[in-house]
Amino acid sequence: MDPETLRRDFDRRLEEMGIRVKDADQLKVRGDVFDEVTLLALYKLAHKKIFSEIGGVVATGKEGNVFYGERDGKGVAIKIYMMRTANFKAMTEYLDGDPRFRNVRRTRKEIIFAWTRKEFSNLKRARSAGLRVPEPYAFDRNILLMEFLGEEGVPYPQIRLVEMEDPAAVYAEVVDAMDRLYKEAKLVHGDLSEFNILFSEGHAYLIDMGQAVTRDHPRALPFLLRDIRNVNRFFSQHCETIGDEVLLRRIAGERFEGP
Ligand SMILES: Nc1ncnc2c1ncn2[C@@H]1O[C@H](COP(=O)(O)OP(=O)(O)OP(=O)(O)O)[C@@H](O)[C@H]1O
Ligand SMILES: [Mg+2]
Repeated sequence: MDPETLRRDFDRRLEEMGIRVKDADQLKVRGDVFDEVTLLALYKLAHKKIFSEIGGVVATGKEGNVFYGERDGKGVAIKIYMMRTANFKAMTEYLDGDPRFRNVRRTRKEIIFAWTRKEFSNLKRARSAGLRVPEPYAFDRNILLMEFLGEEGVPYPQIRLVEMEDPAAVYAEVVDAMDRLYKEAKLVHGDLSEFNILFSEGHAYLIDMGQAVTRDHPRALPFLLRDIRNVNRFFSQHCETIGDEVLLRRIAGERFEGP
């Protein structure tokens, strides 16, 4: 089936299930996202009633696109990793060395599916450790559904774009998040910066956890140091910060073997 027919068929099937497709034209424009694999995954998730409405694009990134959806009137973020343009060489580096993904076959498809599963699992672990991250709801193939952090389809702004009333308190919250992530969830975010922290009502929310690795990943410490440097570089423009190495020792403790 050609993509256009597929999409039409898909829209029809969704509608039959009572799923409203909002901004359908906008969805169709993004033909590169809605390939056959993606449509199938979306269809399966819709069938499980994980979401009941799919709306417009919230963000387009290097690896994926985020759409706004709804379920029982509540916002759902629908993150779709692109099958075609995904930067899967970089993905491999993060997957190698993570014991959870030792048996992943090295085809493009398998890697992207594993990546999606990884982000789901990372978010679960982070939430169990008490972090402010979106609650993951479900995943299928290259699609992850999670709590939408925002209001009326508009995500909370990235922290780089807001004016913080009490930056020192927010910094303390982010430091605490990195610490809990390492000690309790036993993970390192790996791409933490002012681009992957959303801000609302005085609180910092960590997002984008696909690349997060377990502590025993051979590159966990360099990734942690990079996260610390990014966070410190950003917050040092707003408040006092703890030295990079001091913070690394505080978080990683005796595991620290030098940068
Ligand atoms: N759970 C969510 N709730 C609300 N908005 C979200 C959520 N997840 C992602 N977004 C929005 O989508 C944007 C991109 O998300 P994310 O960083 O996870 O994707 P990405 O494809 O890895 O992006 P990039 O490659 O640019 O880092 C975020 O900046 C935010 O605006
Ligand atoms: Mg991001």
